[in-house]
Amino acid sequence: SRVGVVLPAAGSGERLGSAVPKQYIQILGKPLFMYAVEQLISFSWVKTVVLAADDVATMRHFLSSLDDPSKVVVTLGGTSRHESISRALKVLPDECEIAIVHDAARPIVSEQVWKGLVLEAAEHGAAGLTRPLVSTVVQPDLNGFLHATLVRKNFLNSETPQAFSAAILKAAYSKMSDEERINGTECLDLVHRHCNVRAKLVPGPSDLWKVTIPRDLHVCEGTLSALDC
Ligand code: C5P
Repeated sequence: SRVGVVLPAAGSGERLGSAVPKQYIQILGKPLFMYAVEQLISFSWVKTVVLAADDVATMRHFLSSLDDPSKVVVTLGGTSRHESISRALKVLPDECEIAIVHDAARPIVSEQVWKGLVLEAAEHGAAGLTRPLVSTVVQPDLNGFLHATLVRKNFLNSETPQAFSAAILKAAYSKMSDEERINGTECLDLVHRHCNVRAKLVPGPSDLWKVTIPRDLHVCEGTLSALDC
């Protein structure tokens, strides 16, 4: 089947506290988002990678250093991750039967993991990677006092990449509410709510993480230099 990838790469990455949006931060001489782009376009089974960026011209400038930029499309992102994905899906070529959603701020995933997700999505309509929770999740009340505590072993962190039947994902985004557009982040939730598709949850590798806070940049540099990307 033909696979297209949506890579939301807009937004400022506030939690990192950096002057440059995190997707553009240089890691070992290359902007962070380029690691995912270079890997994905090297796969023969990936037809197109759609990037959603705030600054389309800057993004295209970075991409011009690729040996073969022909598989990459850049479109304008939005003010939320969901909005950026929604816009990217509109330019995903129709012949892509499977749509993968990843993050520009996540550089390292093995080909075996990508392919495994595509197979699960082809069978179940949606599939996503998970990791066990590191800390317990608590819910505060409006005054900052404990309201509820989740039992840690009953929950997982939802990670990316996630893979979908492209038709299902596009249908879910076409039904997205304004509340979801602004506050939502989770594609698996959209296809569940709007298309009644329950994603297959696939345990992810332990080195799966997203660059979110400053410490992650050191981890990222260490891991990428060990991998010799
Ligand atoms: O900020 P956060 O870590 O949740 O961002 C996850 C991904 O979503 C990043 O790759 C970021 O570039 C993307 N994003 C986006 N548009 C936004 C906000 C975030 O494409 N408005």
